[in-house]
Amino acid sequence: MYRSNTCGELRASHIGSEVILSGWVHKLRDKGFVAWVDLRDRYGITQLVFDEERTSKELLEQARELGRETVIQAKGQVIERASKNPNIPTGEIEVLVTELTILNKSLLPPFTIEDDTDGGEDIRMKYRYLDIRRNPVKNNLIFRHRVSMEVRKYLSDQGFIDVETPYLIKSTPEGARDFVVPSRMNEGQFYALPQSPQTFKQLLMVGGMDKYFQIVKCFRDEDLRADRQPEFTQIDCEMAFVEQEDILNTFEGLTKHLLKEIKGVDIQEFPRMTYDDAMRLYGNDKPDIRFGMQFGELNAVAQHKDFNVFNTAELVVGIAVPGASEYTRKEIDALIDWVKRPQVGAKGMVYVKCNEDGSYKSSVDKFYDEQDLAKWAEVTGAKPGDLICVLSGDANVTRAQLSALRMELATRLGLRKPNEFAPLWVVDFPLLELDEETGTYHAMHHPFTSPKPGQLKLLETNPGAVKANAYDLVLNGNEIGGGSIRIHDKETQATMFKHLGFTPEEAKAQFGFLMDAFQYGAPPHGGIAFGLDRLVSILGGQETIRDFIAFPKNNSGRDVMIDAPATINKEQLDELNISLANNT
Ligand code: AMO
Repeated sequence: MYRSNTCGELRASHIGSEVILSGWVHKLRDKGFVAWVDLRDRYGITQLVFDEERTSKELLEQARELGRETVIQAKGQVIERASKNPNIPTGEIEVLVTELTILNKSLLPPFTIEDDTDGGEDIRMKYRYLDIRRNPVKNNLIFRHRVSMEVRKYLSDQGFIDVETPYLIKSTPEGARDFVVPSRMNEGQFYALPQSPQTFKQLLMVGGMDKYFQIVKCFRDEDLRADRQPEFTQIDCEMAFVEQEDILNTFEGLTKHLLKEIKGVDIQEFPRMTYDDAMRLYGNDKPDIRFGMQFGELNAVAQHKDFNVFNTAELVVGIAVPGASEYTRKEIDALIDWVKRPQVGAKGMVYVKCNEDGSYKSSVDKFYDEQDLAKWAEVTGAKPGDLICVLSGDANVTRAQLSALRMELATRLGLRKPNEFAPLWVVDFPLLELDEETGTYHAMHHPFTSPKPGQLKLLETNPGAVKANAYDLVLNGNEIGGGSIRIHDKETQATMFKHLGFTPEEAKAQFGFLMDAFQYGAPPHGGIAFGLDRLVSILGGQETIRDFIAFPKNNSGRDVMIDAPATINKEQLDELNISLANNT
């Protein structure tokens, strides 16, 4: 038996018991005639004591040699500690060791295994298994486990069936590039790894499975960010015989359940906002509504004077930053520099200080009088003490820039509180999105999303105006889920492919299997997929999903621990019939 108890378990009530513990040497304190070892495992830390008098000299000598992270087994008696440590649950006791076995030695770790480690990101990634020994990472993984267990429990109780779908498939477009896998047995042919199980879950509905879910890996070759990994996990769901309202209610139920069980927060209201309103009021289709700072469109009250920058702009739009009228010239200049960074890309920023005495001071006093500025304050909802920040230019671009500024200021002002939760359904997304570069339309969600009833005809005349039966669930400014009611008849699906620029032959080659299936009694259906990594990290009060993934990739898509991706040898390439230009 390696252990009778864990290192997080022993309390004063165990005093007198004989125990066996196994774990890692966290720390050694050596006083010469007595030595203490903090023994650590997943459950906590227990202090072991080695004492010349009470145990043996040899044992003490052995203990004094123990290096950090050595794996040991210790047998002994639980005794009361002379100086108790109220900061840890086992702080009232220690184990007087009578037998010590070294189970495995350890090299000196490249960083300290402490909550606040001295190891930088790169080294911790390379030795991720050591990083996982640290509480912050370990606790995140345990937290993730709790969330995914609650998800399984809830959905299973609601009658959802967990079905696995294949990983070696044909492309399912979700807007990213595919990762492809060469087929040895089918020369020159490739599988694609699923960007999502979208088509399979729809086929499960045709198969009569009615309510499906899967906690499933998805693969997308796209540019990485804090909230994106090339392989990530979805809680993927689909239901048959449902309308949008049924889906929203079901998954509002799941989200409420998780917030209650995991965070102890009761949220009754899941507000809904149309995509158009979200863009108009927040410049963003995933607004963080934990704080105000809604956009005020100022065209009507700012384009009547000689200020050409505004007069020639498609949109003049501002936000009121609470309590920021006190910003110094230097602070405001820094803010202007911030919006001018290439990542944001604004040409400049106009500001208005709304002084506590009701007067205004702006950077455009030459053009606008107090009356004008009072109107700006009214439109943006600015109060005395606020600072109005105004950007102008092309509508879409300016909205995105002001949205970035809004989020940045909210972060700086501490308005994005990690333990406050504000879910929001964003509904009525456009069906199609114009690619400005190519001038062609592509599906905003994916090509299987149905247009709003009665809008199919509009596809011919004004495709950009067609709204979809599509919805996103936003939590604290992050898109944690998205889904839609699907097209379930062959003709509509064919029309959709046509508008997306597929020839009938291309549509048949890529998605013939789905359109064929639609001819055999496909029920009306729809669904949603949550990003589990994102959901977990937001519930955990953070926004970097990497911290909640056991073995994540870095920003260049590399696993620096196993050093992947890597080249493969010539035999393997030959077997796969792949010849590389530089691999002769
Ligand atoms: P969508 O593409 O919106 O929808 O993806 C669903 C959710 O998955 C998460 N997500 C990601 N998380 C981490 N890294 C990524 N690279 C990444 N990409 C997406 C997001 C997102 O909301 N098949 C549809 C769902 C449906 O229609 O039912 C789909 O995949 O949180």
